Amino acid sequence: MTSCILLTGGAGFIGSHTHIALTAAGHKVVILDDFSNAQHSVPARLEQITGQPVTVIDADVRDADALAKVFATHTIDAVVHFAARKAVGESMAVPLDYFDVNINGLITLLRAMDRAGCRRLVFSSSATVYGVPDEAPTPETAPFRAMNPYGQTKITGEQMLGWLQASNPEWAVGVLRYFNPAGAHGSALIGEDPRDIPNNLMPYVAKVALGQLPRVMVFGNDYDTPDGTGVRDYIHVEDLARGHVLSLEKLLSTGQGHVVNLGTGRGYSVLEVIAAYQRASNRDLPHVITDRRPGDVPIYVARADKAAEVLGFRTEKGLDEMCASLWKWVSNMADGA
Ligand code: WQD
Repeated sequence: MTSCILLTGGAGFIGSHTHIALTAAGHKVVILDDFSNAQHSVPARLEQITGQPVTVIDADVRDADALAKVFATHTIDAVVHFAARKAVGESMAVPLDYFDVNINGLITLLRAMDRAGCRRLVFSSSATVYGVPDEAPTPETAPFRAMNPYGQTKITGEQMLGWLQASNPEWAVGVLRYFNPAGAHGSALIGEDPRDIPNNLMPYVAKVALGQLPRVMVFGNDYDTPDGTGVRDYIHVEDLARGHVLSLEKLLSTGQGHVVNLGTGRGYSVLEVIAAYQRASNRDLPHVITDRRPGDVPIYVARADKAAEVLGFRTEKGLDEMCASLWKWVSNMADGA
């Protein structure tokens, strides 16, 4: 069954990979993106990868007129909502920007959808909603714990969507709680492309391997983990994209909403990531142990079985493939591709 899917933030890291997965699954895709955190070169690269023209609207998800025009121009069957600010540290500095984009943007989108009679939504959420979880691996039943404004916006978004579905059963929402997205598309034509010094570990390590940064700062090695460094559940962005297709097709075929973790169920420490990236890049990665980063938790690992039960989703790519695909992507970019 082919449908027309609107991807808000569809030129971004996860959005662009989801565009490719949806197109491969036979769906028509429309991208709405303001390119505040995406390169303008992405749509052309998507056309190169898919061999199909890409429909892009350059607009802010808070622009009600732009959204109304999208729904008037295209018959949208469902929406995948990526367009949001997503940096924990930044959200502490500019919380009102995060509330504006992530909450007002969501409300504006939902109103436009409702007016158009489009009530199928995949919502990009995050393991950050768990705050400091009591248990790892962490199940979807773990309580919400807002640790920062970014996490608060994801909790609030999920709660709003819960009430919306309760108010009108025509709404069906797939809430996907991402753990740590990593890696890049196998073509090395798209990937994570941070504008300045990355906050996240994987893109930072990638820059050190290229010689663009001097060393990796390991934020603490005194956590209660096997080697003392932070443990995270890294999930390949191509696996993550496939999870979105399965969530969307579940909504379209059954009208049943769901809330699932998207992770591998396997954690890796910072030192294990550095070792894996050294293998993938064949580069020595200087690193130094520094103080803990405020707000960090020792372990974030998904209980991944609900996504398997509800969506038939299982990850296929491991840490070595994440590192190899990331190395290929950043090397390609460094060569000016
Ligand atoms: C991973 C591990 C750090 C950088 C964040 C967001 C989360 C989600 C994914 C949106 C931790 C350590 C990191 C570095 C290090 N984004 N680290 N040196 O914090 O788990 O999650 O990105 O949904 O919401 O919070 O990812 O990559 O920043 O950190 O030692 O230079 O690497 O302490 O243990 P995090 P991360």
